[in-house]
Amino acid sequence: MKTKLVRTLAALRRETTKWRKEGLTYAVVPTMGAIHSGHTELVAQGLTRADRVIATIFVNPKQFAAHEDLDKYPRDEDGDVLKLGKAGCHVIYLPTPEEIYPEGFCTTVSATGPAKAGLEDKFRPQFFDGVCTIVAKLFIQTGADYAMFGEKDYQQLQVVTRMAKDLSIPIEVIGVATVREDDGLAKSSRNVYLSKQERQQALAIYSSLSHAAERIRGGLDIQSAARLATRTLMALGFTVDYVTVRNAATLAPPQNRDEPLRIIAAAWLGETRLIDNVAV
Ligand code: PAF
Repeated sequence: MKTKLVRTLAALRRETTKWRKEGLTYAVVPTMGAIHSGHTELVAQGLTRADRVIATIFVNPKQFAAHEDLDKYPRDEDGDVLKLGKAGCHVIYLPTPEEIYPEGFCTTVSATGPAKAGLEDKFRPQFFDGVCTIVAKLFIQTGADYAMFGEKDYQQLQVVTRMAKDLSIPIEVIGVATVREDDGLAKSSRNVYLSKQERQQALAIYSSLSHAAERIRGGLDIQSAARLATRTLMALGFTVDYVTVRNAATLAPPQNRDEPLRIIAAAWLGETRLIDNVAV
């Protein structure tokens, strides 16, 4: 099967219209490129649900703050296309900025609820308006049946799930388990920035969250478990932005321990910010 590259909405719709006429279902995997095995797993999971998979590659300027260097974001179109093709993608949509944000574009999709949970939004206040705006646009442009999102960006997964529901966009958002290195570190485009020593230290983020989750299941109170994980990470040289236990869907602080819970963390190792989360 040859993967088709499309750069315009008209070309994308020619493909999706054909699929619909043939009675086929399709999934979308939104990405900003820098494709790694976390993304190809989203494609693989898409292929288990739908007849066709579209991956999108668009480095979305609206989710970067001025101080976050959009220009430095890794770009490797040829490499990305190769990896997505090998993973079994039928169509790769690489829109130009004008195709997404045409002259005069002045609409923002702005979310509250999980988007204002005081997690990533506290450190990147512009981020979820940018994500919601592009994701809503990609959901509408593709008209896909399913959208595949990694659980690694757990807050993003909850925000887009809620947004699709609130806006009655007929798409099912599917959360896919985080792909990890053999030693447990969550796969991320940022892992390449870690020095050899930091790469070793980085293991602690997953292990400390896993231990905290185990301790909560064993009866330890939520705050103490989160505090313990924070202290462990700090002792190992991390600068911790947050370690917190939240309701797994709303991301609100839990009212009781019988709710579905998720322990979620963001922490720096040197210049690299790592995020991870574990079900309790
Ligand atoms: O997770 C990402 O790579 C981006 O936030 C997304 C969902 C592709 C929107 O630009």
